[in-house]
Formats: sequence, structure tokens, C-alpha cells
Amino acid sequence: MTFDAADTKPFALTTPLYYVNDLPHIGSAYTTMAADAVARFYRLTGRPVLLITGTDEHGQKILRTAQDRGVHPQEHCDQIAAGFERLWQHLNITCDRFSRTTHPHHQVIVNQFFQRVWQQGDIYLGQQQGWYCVSCEEFKEERDLLADHRCPIHTNKSVEWRDEQNYFFRLSRYQGQLEQLYAERPQFIQPEARRNEVLSFVARGLQDFSISRVNLEWGFAVPTDPHHTLYVWFDALLGYVTALLEPGESPSLEAALARWWPINLHLIGKDILRFHAVYWPAMLMSAGLPVPGQVFGHGFLTKDGHKMGKSLGNTLDPVKLVEKYGADAVRYYFLKEIEFGKDGDFNETRFITVLNADLANDLGNLLNRTLTMAQRYCGGKVPAIDGASIGPDHKLKCLGQTLAIAVAEFYSNLQFSQACEAILGLAQASNKFLDGEAPWSLYKQGKQQETERVLYAVLESVRLAAYLLSPVIPQTSALIYRQLGFDCDLSQKTIGQTLPYRDHAAWGGLPPGQGLAEAQPVFQRIELPVVSL
Ligand code: MSP
Repeated sequence: MTFDAADTKPFALTTPLYYVNDLPHIGSAYTTMAADAVARFYRLTGRPVLLITGTDEHGQKILRTAQDRGVHPQEHCDQIAAGFERLWQHLNITCDRFSRTTHPHHQVIVNQFFQRVWQQGDIYLGQQQGWYCVSCEEFKEERDLLADHRCPIHTNKSVEWRDEQNYFFRLSRYQGQLEQLYAERPQFIQPEARRNEVLSFVARGLQDFSISRVNLEWGFAVPTDPHHTLYVWFDALLGYVTALLEPGESPSLEAALARWWPINLHLIGKDILRFHAVYWPAMLMSAGLPVPGQVFGHGFLTKDGHKMGKSLGNTLDPVKLVEKYGADAVRYYFLKEIEFGKDGDFNETRFITVLNADLANDLGNLLNRTLTMAQRYCGGKVPAIDGASIGPDHKLKCLGQTLAIAVAEFYSNLQFSQACEAILGLAQASNKFLDGEAPWSLYKQGKQQETERVLYAVLESVRLAAYLLSPVIPQTSALIYRQLGFDCDLSQKTIGQTLPYRDHAAWGGLPPGQGLAEAQPVFQRIELPVVSL
């Protein structure tokens, strides 16, 4: 997608609605951090943004977990959902809606949607036979199973045989329309590798899928037949729509769709691509509704090169990680170190090395020493240099001027890693520039004007880097801004309170004469070795 600075249209995006069978894991934190970076970026550009996350609370998996714990399923859901909300606070996620599928409003939306699909003649009663993975909440093809009928995703769980009457959704009817959608809108599924996966799945021929279960009370009843409970995925995908209701608004499909529909972006992991890129658009087509802008399937995380899992005893607890290193460190590592869309790895030594190199040294230390010099040589004020008076061939200005557009493109294409690299490039160039120009010796030689020009250029470059990195490391960026003498909050969520991209992403905006704060480390170096997580 190309970035259009003049675009002021609303932008709505979602994370998946996470299952509440367990406390949040690093996979859910990963998608949510990425979504938050996108949301923060678009807010800076002045677009009204709605960031939706939430929890998926129905179905057999949740019911069984609650039963195993000996608590009522609703109580169980309430406890786990609260854990998700807490983690999002720790991680500084600026979520606008937290959608819970057990909320009574949601049932109204689901029923109205079901009616539309029913009236379309796309729901019928049939016999479902097959292998069901409760952990995936999905029927599996026999050929995809591992030995002993184990699920290929939940390798320690066996699938269960089902032979029951279910209601089916006529997915097969939408084969042609879906193929047309993928052809006309190549951006609908991204990245390319995921798109190809979907295209070949669809090309094999779509089969209708069952959307109800019998003998399961934990879910909404099928509106036309209370002996059946709606399939958890049919209900969950509609959680995105329910989330669009304004707080306190009385629920109806029409009201929910009024302002933010179609949602611009669904961010998901690659394992749930089919639901979002095939089933979901077909359901929407059946209900006569426009389909979302894009479905982006990111990769899977491993730890020290191994698949993570409770049974493997190597899970990575996002709460512990944030408690130990802070939100910005965690956000930065996952967004900078892993190319979004590809699989990636967490390794604690690598984590520490990256943070020390990029945030403590290249950025933090640069600010620290430049501020200290500005205190000494320029009376604690931004040097009295007008950014506009610096020529276009100035090394840092030259780099800084092209950064805004490049970084905006990267963020709009979800290339967080490339965005961070490009911004870090400016900090690295500034360090080199500072060493080469040696303002401390210029000052000693009595060259005040030259000293000030050097310090201005570096302070301004740090400011720009901090601004552009703020979607990823909002707290550190805010600290840098404060030390540079700005009295504002970079992480404000409300439109009008953000610092507009068109002004702050341009090189040269640091106001001459602005009072600077005391130099304080914005990012503490992390010492090795540590007790491993
Ligand atoms: N409830 C469904 C989503 C319904 S959306 C209407 C669900 N929930 S989930 O909690 O199981 O998974 C949520 C997300 O976590 C998925 O996008 C999945 O890809 C992601 N991850 C789970 N493990 C992961 C990794 N190890 N690495 C990265 N993401 C992973 O599916």
C-alpha cells in the first residue's frame, strides 16, 4: 500500500479475539504490539483510528478448561479476560475497543447476521462426520493428521471423531466470488506467501462447513433451532462487528456497521488465515456486506529456535518479560528483530544485545552526550540555529529529509523492522557526524557558531528519530521529547492532541532557543549475564 499523506479517512484495525483457555502468551502479545504500532502511526498522521482487540470466549475448548478448573465458564472467562486487559496496559497498548464474545450485545449482532445469511438460503441442515481438534476448534482432513490421530498444530492432542447433525454454511457457493475478490484486490491477503497458500487452498475447491454443534451449551443458540449451538468461529468473527458499536449504544447490525465498516485491516497469525481470508469474506458476501480491506497473516515465534509450548516447558510469559525489561524493550525487539510476516525467534542474549546496541547506545547515548554538551556550551538551550538555514547537502539534513516518506511507507506496509532500521540509520549517522565534527574541540577553539550548528543538527536528528520511532517505543520517545524541552505527550490517543506527522516528521523543526532538560538516560543498558526467562 502506498502512503497517502492527504488521506484523513478513519482507519479500523483488529487483532484476533484471543481464546481465554489460558492467560495471554507471547503470540497474542506479538499481534497486539504490531497492531498498536500501526494504530499509533495512523493517529500521528491525523486519521481517526479504532484499534480493536478482545477475547473469544465460547466453544468446547473454553468450556472444558473451565470445567477442569471447577469454575463456571463465565467466571473463568471474566478472570482470563481481565488478564488480557492487564497485559495490554503493561504493554502500553492504546486499544479503543475490547470485544468479548460473551457480552449480551454480541448475541444481538450474531442473531441479526445469522438471519441475513439464513434468508439468503445459505444455511442448511446436514450430517457432519470428521475428525475435530478441540484446541483448534476445527475439523481436520484425515490426510493432514499426524500418527495416532494427533493434530498437526497441537501435536500433543488427539483429534476426536464426530458424527452428528449440524447446520452448514454454503461456502461452495462463494468460490467464484472469492476468486474474483483475490484477483481484483491482490492486497486483500498479505504477505504474498500467505496469499498463495489461500489461492491454492481455494483452487482445490471449497466445501461447505458446519456452523453449529449439538450437545454443547457454552455458546449462543442457533436462532432458528435452539437444539443447536452456533460454532465458535461463526460467533467469534462477528466479534469484530460488535466491537464497532459505540459504548452504551443499543445493539443492532445497522448501528455497528454505520461508522467504521469495512474494517481496514485484520492482523492475525498464519494459523488462522483460512477463517479470515476465506470463510469470513464469504459470510460477509452472503450477508450482503462489503469485505474488509486486508488480512495480514504474520509468522510464528519460536524460543531459542524451538517451537514453544506448555508441554515442552519453554513458553515465554509476556508479563514476566515486560516486568523484567519494560514495555518498550519488548515492543522494540519483536518489531525490529523479526520481519513481520516471517517466522522469528526469541533469544534472551540476542534480545539484550539488540536493545543495548540500538536503544541504549545508538539512540540513548547519543542524546545523552549531545544534551550534556548543549548544557555546557549553549546554556542549556537548543542552539539558536534555524533548521531551514542549514543547506540541503548537510549530511544529517539530507538523510532526515527523506526519512518521513520512507518510514511512512514502511509503517503502512507493516514493515516495522525496515522502519526501525531506517530510523536507526539516522542515529548511527549522527553518532559518526558528532565524532567527525568533534564539537568539544570546536568549542575549545572558540568556534561557538560552528559548535552550535553541529549540536543543533544532532539534537534535531535525535528528535526526528524519537518521533518516528514513537509508534514502536512510545515511552522512550516521550522521554526524549521531554528532555528536548517539549511539553507534550507523544502517546496521546485523542485526535488533535497528537503532534502532526507533516510537521514533526520533517527535519528542522526543533525550535531554536527552546529550554533543554537535564540529560538523563532514556534507556538503561541491560547487563549480561542475567537469570534466563
Ligand atoms: N480465537 C481465535 C481467533 C478468533 S478471531 C475472530 C484464536 N485465538 S488464539 O488465542 O488461539 O490465537 C490468537 C493468535 O495468536 C493467532 O493469531 C495465532 O496465530 C497467534 N499465535 C499463537 N501462537 C503463536 C506463536 N508461537 N507465534 C506467533 N503467534 C502465535 O485463534
